[in-house]
Amino acid sequence: MNLLPENFEDTLRTKIIGHPLYVYSQLDSTQITAKHLAANKAKEGTIVLAYFQKKGMGRNGREWFSPKGGIWFTIILRPHFSSEKANMINIIFTTACAEVFYSFGITQPVIKWPNDILINGKKICGILTQMKSKPRRKKDNLQNESEIEYALVGIGINLDTAIEDFPAALKNKATSIKQEIGKEIKMDDFLASLLEKIEKYYIMLKEDKFSKIQKEWKKFSLPFGILVKTSTSKEVYEGQLVGTNEHGHLIIRTPHGKMEEVSAGEIEII
Ligand code: BTN
Repeated sequence: MNLLPENFEDTLRTKIIGHPLYVYSQLDSTQITAKHLAANKAKEGTIVLAYFQKKGMGRNGREWFSPKGGIWFTIILRPHFSSEKANMINIIFTTACAEVFYSFGITQPVIKWPNDILINGKKICGILTQMKSKPRRKKDNLQNESEIEYALVGIGINLDTAIEDFPAALKNKATSIKQEIGKEIKMDDFLASLLEKIEKYYIMLKEDKFSKIQKEWKKFSLPFGILVKTSTSKEVYEGQLVGTNEHGHLIIRTPHGKMEEVSAGEIEII
Protein backbone atom coordinates (compact mmCIF):
# COMPACT_ATOMS: atom_id res chain seq x y z
CA MET A 1 0.00 0.00 0.00
CA ASN A 2 2.25 2.78 -1.29
CA LEU A 3 0.90 6.28 -1.58
CA LEU A 4 2.61 7.86 -4.60
CA PRO A 5 3.56 11.51 -5.11
CA GLU A 6 1.67 11.75 -8.45
CA ASN A 7 0.52 15.16 -9.60
CA PHE A 8 -2.78 14.12 -11.23
CA GLU A 9 -4.67 16.44 -8.95
CA ASP A 10 -2.91 19.48 -10.44
CA THR A 11 -4.07 18.52 -13.94
CA LEU A 12 -7.77 18.41 -12.99
CA ARG A 13 -10.26 21.03 -14.14
CA THR A 14 -12.69 20.29 -11.29
CA LYS A 15 -13.44 22.09 -8.05
CA ILE A 16 -14.74 19.25 -5.88
CA ILE A 17 -14.21 15.88 -7.53
CA GLY A 18 -10.62 14.69 -7.18
CA HIS A 19 -9.61 17.05 -4.39
CA PRO A 20 -7.80 15.38 -2.82
CA LEU A 21 -6.80 12.55 -5.16
CA TYR A 22 -4.76 9.81 -3.51
CA VAL A 23 -2.80 7.56 -5.88
CA TYR A 24 -1.49 4.20 -4.68
CA SER A 25 0.75 1.76 -6.52
CA GLN A 26 -1.50 -1.06 -5.31
CA LEU A 27 -4.35 -1.71 -2.94
CA ASP A 28 -6.62 -4.60 -2.13
CA SER A 29 -9.52 -2.47 -3.37
CA THR A 30 -10.00 1.28 -3.68
CA GLN A 31 -13.49 0.73 -2.22
CA ILE A 32 -12.03 -0.52 1.05
CA THR A 33 -9.52 2.33 1.41
CA ALA A 34 -12.18 4.89 0.45
CA LYS A 35 -14.55 3.42 3.03
CA HIS A 36 -11.98 3.93 5.79
CA LEU A 37 -11.42 7.50 4.65
CA ALA A 38 -15.15 8.22 4.43
CA ALA A 39 -15.71 6.81 7.92
CA ASN A 40 -12.98 9.20 9.09
CA LYS A 41 -14.67 12.28 7.66
CA ALA A 42 -12.87 12.50 4.31
CA LYS A 43 -14.42 15.32 2.36
CA GLU A 44 -16.79 15.05 -0.57
CA GLY A 45 -14.92 14.59 -3.82
CA THR A 46 -11.98 12.67 -2.33
CA ILE A 47 -10.68 10.05 -4.76
CA VAL A 48 -8.67 6.92 -4.12
CA LEU A 49 -6.96 5.50 -7.20
CA ALA A 50 -4.76 2.42 -7.45
CA TYR A 51 -2.65 1.25 -10.38
CA PHE A 52 -3.35 -2.32 -9.40
CA GLN A 53 -5.94 -3.94 -7.15
CA LYS A 54 -5.29 -7.29 -5.55
CA LYS A 55 -8.93 -7.86 -4.60
CA GLY A 56 -10.88 -5.64 -6.98
CA MET A 57 -14.58 -5.82 -6.14
CA GLY A 58 -17.33 -6.16 -8.72
CA ARG A 59 -21.06 -6.05 -8.14
CA ASN A 60 -22.92 -8.90 -6.45
CA GLY A 61 -19.79 -10.23 -4.78
CA ARG A 62 -17.96 -10.81 -8.07
CA GLU A 63 -14.24 -10.22 -8.44
CA TRP A 64 -13.07 -7.36 -10.63
CA PHE A 65 -9.96 -8.06 -12.70
CA SER A 66 -7.74 -5.03 -12.02
CA PRO A 67 -4.26 -5.42 -13.54
CA LYS A 68 -1.82 -2.58 -14.11
CA GLY A 69 -2.87 -0.51 -17.09
CA GLY A 70 -6.48 0.08 -16.05
CA ILE A 71 -8.15 2.99 -14.29
CA TRP A 72 -9.39 1.84 -10.90
CA PHE A 73 -10.72 4.47 -8.55
CA THR A 74 -13.39 5.33 -6.01
CA ILE A 75 -15.02 8.71 -5.43
CA ILE A 76 -16.45 9.65 -2.05
CA LEU A 77 -19.69 11.63 -2.32
CA ARG A 78 -21.79 13.17 0.43
CA PRO A 79 -24.93 14.21 -1.43
CA HIS A 80 -27.45 14.38 1.50
CA PHE A 81 -30.05 12.82 -0.80
CA SER A 82 -32.64 10.39 0.33
CA SER A 83 -31.38 6.84 -0.21
CA GLU A 84 -34.09 6.49 -2.85
CA LYS A 85 -31.99 8.59 -5.20
CA ALA A 86 -29.13 6.09 -5.41
CA ASN A 87 -30.08 5.06 -8.93
CA MET A 88 -29.79 8.64 -10.12
CA ILE A 89 -26.14 8.54 -9.13
CA ASN A 90 -25.68 5.50 -11.34
CA ILE A 91 -27.40 7.27 -14.24
CA ILE A 92 -25.16 10.33 -14.02
CA PHE A 93 -21.98 8.29 -13.74
CA THR A 94 -22.74 5.95 -16.62
CA THR A 95 -23.76 8.89 -18.80
CA ALA A 96 -20.55 10.77 -17.98
CA CYS A 97 -18.45 7.67 -18.75
CA ALA A 98 -20.24 6.97 -22.05
CA GLU A 99 -19.84 10.57 -23.21
CA VAL A 100 -16.15 10.61 -22.39
CA PHE A 101 -15.57 7.26 -24.15
CA TYR A 102 -17.28 8.79 -27.17
CA SER A 103 -15.15 11.93 -27.02
CA PHE A 104 -12.02 9.77 -26.97
CA GLY A 105 -12.97 8.07 -30.23
CA ILE A 106 -15.04 5.11 -29.15
CA THR A 107 -17.96 5.41 -31.51
CA GLN A 108 -20.61 3.27 -29.87
CA PRO A 109 -20.49 3.06 -26.10
CA VAL A 110 -23.72 1.53 -24.81
CA ILE A 111 -25.05 1.84 -21.27
CA LYS A 112 -26.58 -1.31 -19.84
CA TRP A 113 -28.61 -0.31 -16.81
CA PRO A 114 -27.70 0.16 -14.08
CA ASN A 115 -23.94 0.38 -14.25
CA ASP A 116 -22.20 -1.14 -17.26
CA ILE A 117 -20.70 0.35 -20.38
CA LEU A 118 -20.43 -2.03 -23.32
CA ILE A 119 -18.72 -1.76 -26.67
CA ASN A 120 -20.07 -4.23 -29.23
CA GLY A 121 -21.56 -6.19 -26.37
CA LYS A 122 -18.28 -6.38 -24.43
CA LYS A 123 -17.74 -4.67 -21.12
CA ILE A 124 -15.24 -1.81 -21.01
CA CYS A 125 -16.30 -0.19 -17.75
CA GLY A 126 -18.16 -1.22 -14.61
CA ILE A 127 -19.33 0.87 -11.68
CA LEU A 128 -19.96 -0.26 -8.12
CA THR A 129 -21.92 2.12 -5.89
CA GLN A 130 -21.91 1.38 -2.17
CA MET A 131 -23.62 3.57 0.36
CA LYS A 132 -23.96 4.25 4.03
CA SER A 133 -27.29 5.70 5.04
CA LYS A 134 -28.43 7.48 8.16
CA PRO A 135 -31.84 8.67 9.38
CA ARG A 136 -32.97 11.99 7.92
CA ARG A 137 -32.22 15.08 9.99
CA LYS A 138 -34.99 15.93 12.45
CA LYS A 139 -35.33 19.50 11.27
CA ASP A 140 -36.50 18.23 7.88
CA ASN A 141 -39.38 16.50 9.64
CA LEU A 142 -38.69 13.36 7.69
CA GLN A 143 -37.58 11.04 10.47
CA ASN A 144 -38.82 7.92 8.72
CA GLU A 145 -36.70 8.47 5.67
CA SER A 146 -33.03 7.73 5.41
CA GLU A 147 -30.47 9.84 3.63
CA ILE A 148 -27.12 8.96 2.13
CA GLU A 149 -24.33 9.68 4.62
CA TYR A 150 -21.77 8.87 1.99
CA ALA A 151 -21.62 7.03 -1.31
CA LEU A 152 -18.54 5.26 -2.61
CA VAL A 153 -18.68 5.20 -6.38
CA GLY A 154 -16.07 2.80 -7.69
CA ILE A 155 -15.25 3.00 -11.38
CA GLY A 156 -13.24 0.42 -13.24
CA ILE A 157 -12.14 1.19 -16.79
CA ASN A 158 -10.17 -1.20 -18.95
CA LEU A 159 -7.70 1.20 -20.48
CA ASP A 160 -4.66 -0.62 -21.84
CA THR A 161 -5.45 -4.28 -21.21
CA ALA A 162 -4.82 -6.46 -24.25
CA ILE A 163 -7.47 -9.12 -24.92
CA GLU A 164 -4.89 -11.89 -24.50
CA ASP A 165 -4.17 -10.62 -21.00
CA PHE A 166 -7.76 -10.99 -19.80
CA PRO A 167 -8.48 -14.24 -17.91
CA ALA A 168 -10.12 -16.92 -20.07
CA ALA A 169 -13.56 -16.27 -18.58
CA LEU A 170 -13.43 -12.61 -19.67
CA LYS A 171 -11.84 -12.91 -23.11
CA ASN A 172 -15.17 -12.91 -24.95
CA LYS A 173 -16.91 -10.60 -22.52
CA ALA A 174 -14.50 -7.71 -21.94
CA THR A 175 -12.65 -5.16 -24.01
CA SER A 176 -10.41 -2.14 -23.41
CA ILE A 177 -9.95 1.35 -24.81
CA LYS A 178 -6.66 0.35 -26.40
CA GLN A 179 -8.30 -2.65 -28.04
CA GLU A 180 -11.13 -0.53 -29.43
CA ILE A 181 -9.23 2.45 -30.78
CA GLY A 182 -5.85 0.82 -31.40
CA LYS A 183 -3.82 3.39 -29.56
CA GLU A 184 -2.86 4.22 -26.04
CA ILE A 185 -4.52 7.05 -24.19
CA LYS A 186 -2.85 8.78 -21.30
CA MET A 187 -4.58 8.00 -18.04
CA ASP A 188 -4.33 11.57 -16.75
CA ASP A 189 -5.98 13.01 -19.90
CA PHE A 190 -8.83 10.53 -19.70
CA LEU A 191 -9.27 11.01 -15.98
CA ALA A 192 -9.29 14.81 -16.23
CA SER A 193 -12.07 14.69 -18.86
CA LEU A 194 -14.07 12.10 -16.99
CA LEU A 195 -13.94 13.89 -13.65
CA GLU A 196 -14.89 17.17 -15.28
CA LYS A 197 -17.99 15.55 -16.76
CA ILE A 198 -18.85 13.75 -13.53
CA GLU A 199 -18.64 17.00 -11.59
CA LYS A 200 -20.82 18.81 -14.11
CA TYR A 201 -23.54 16.14 -13.86
CA TYR A 202 -23.24 15.84 -10.09
CA ILE A 203 -23.86 19.56 -9.71
CA MET A 204 -26.82 19.32 -12.11
CA LEU A 205 -28.23 16.45 -10.06
CA LYS A 206 -27.99 18.56 -6.91
CA GLU A 207 -29.75 21.37 -8.76
CA ASP A 208 -32.64 19.01 -9.60
CA LYS A 209 -31.78 18.87 -13.29
CA PHE A 210 -31.87 15.09 -13.45
CA SER A 211 -34.26 15.01 -16.41
CA LYS A 212 -31.68 16.83 -18.55
CA ILE A 213 -29.05 14.20 -17.77
CA GLN A 214 -31.58 11.47 -18.44
CA LYS A 215 -32.00 12.77 -21.98
CA GLU A 216 -28.26 12.28 -22.48
CA TRP A 217 -28.43 8.84 -20.84
CA LYS A 218 -31.12 7.83 -23.31
CA LYS A 219 -28.78 8.54 -26.25
CA PHE A 220 -26.37 5.89 -24.97
CA SER A 221 -28.77 3.38 -23.42
CA LEU A 222 -29.44 -0.07 -24.84
CA PRO A 223 -32.15 0.56 -27.43
CA PHE A 224 -35.62 0.89 -26.02
CA GLY A 225 -37.93 -1.91 -27.16
CA ILE A 226 -35.40 -4.74 -26.94
CA LEU A 227 -36.30 -7.76 -24.84
CA VAL A 228 -34.58 -7.96 -21.47
CA LYS A 229 -34.80 -9.98 -18.30
CA THR A 230 -34.03 -8.68 -14.84
CA SER A 231 -31.73 -11.19 -13.29
CA THR A 232 -30.93 -10.36 -9.70
CA SER A 233 -33.72 -8.30 -8.18
CA LYS A 234 -36.24 -10.12 -5.98
CA GLU A 235 -38.73 -10.55 -8.77
CA VAL A 236 -37.77 -11.66 -12.23
CA TYR A 237 -39.38 -9.80 -15.09
CA GLU A 238 -39.05 -10.30 -18.80
CA GLY A 239 -40.21 -7.75 -21.27
CA GLN A 240 -39.40 -4.77 -23.43
CA LEU A 241 -37.04 -2.11 -22.19
CA VAL A 242 -39.03 1.10 -21.92
CA GLY A 243 -36.52 3.42 -20.21
CA THR A 244 -35.99 4.85 -16.75
CA ASN A 245 -38.33 6.92 -14.59
CA GLU A 246 -37.73 10.09 -12.57
CA HIS A 247 -35.87 8.08 -9.87
CA GLY A 248 -33.57 6.35 -12.35
CA HIS A 249 -35.45 3.06 -11.92
CA LEU A 250 -35.78 0.82 -14.95
CA ILE A 251 -39.16 0.38 -16.59
CA ILE A 252 -40.01 -2.87 -18.39
CA ARG A 253 -43.21 -3.62 -20.32
CA THR A 254 -44.16 -7.25 -19.70
CA PRO A 255 -45.82 -9.36 -22.42
CA HIS A 256 -49.18 -8.57 -20.70
CA GLY A 257 -48.59 -4.86 -21.23
CA LYS A 258 -47.93 -4.13 -17.56
CA MET A 259 -45.22 -1.58 -16.73
CA GLU A 260 -42.90 -2.94 -14.06
CA GLU A 261 -40.46 -0.74 -12.16
CA VAL A 262 -37.10 -2.25 -11.25
CA SER A 263 -34.96 -0.45 -8.66
CA ALA A 264 -32.18 -2.98 -8.13
CA GLY A 265 -30.52 -5.80 -9.95
CA GLU A 266 -29.10 -6.25 -13.40
CA ILE A 267 -30.53 -6.89 -16.81
CA GLU A 268 -29.75 -9.47 -19.39
CA ILE A 269 -30.58 -9.13 -23.07
CA ILE A 270 -32.74 -12.08 -24.21
C1 BTN B 1 -18.99 -4.29 -11.84
O1 BTN B 1 -19.24 -4.08 -13.03
O2 BTN B 1 -19.18 -5.41 -11.33
C2 BTN B 1 -18.44 -3.16 -11.02
C3 BTN B 1 -16.96 -3.07 -11.11
C4 BTN B 1 -16.37 -1.94 -10.31
C5 BTN B 1 -14.85 -1.97 -10.31
C6 BTN B 1 -14.26 -0.78 -9.63
S1 BTN B 1 -12.53 -0.65 -9.89
C7 BTN B 1 -12.44 0.61 -8.71
C8 BTN B 1 -13.35 0.22 -7.57
N1 BTN B 1 -12.63 -0.63 -6.64
C9 BTN B 1 -13.10 -1.87 -6.63
O3 BTN B 1 -12.66 -2.79 -5.94
N2 BTN B 1 -14.13 -1.97 -7.47
C10 BTN B 1 -14.43 -0.71 -8.12
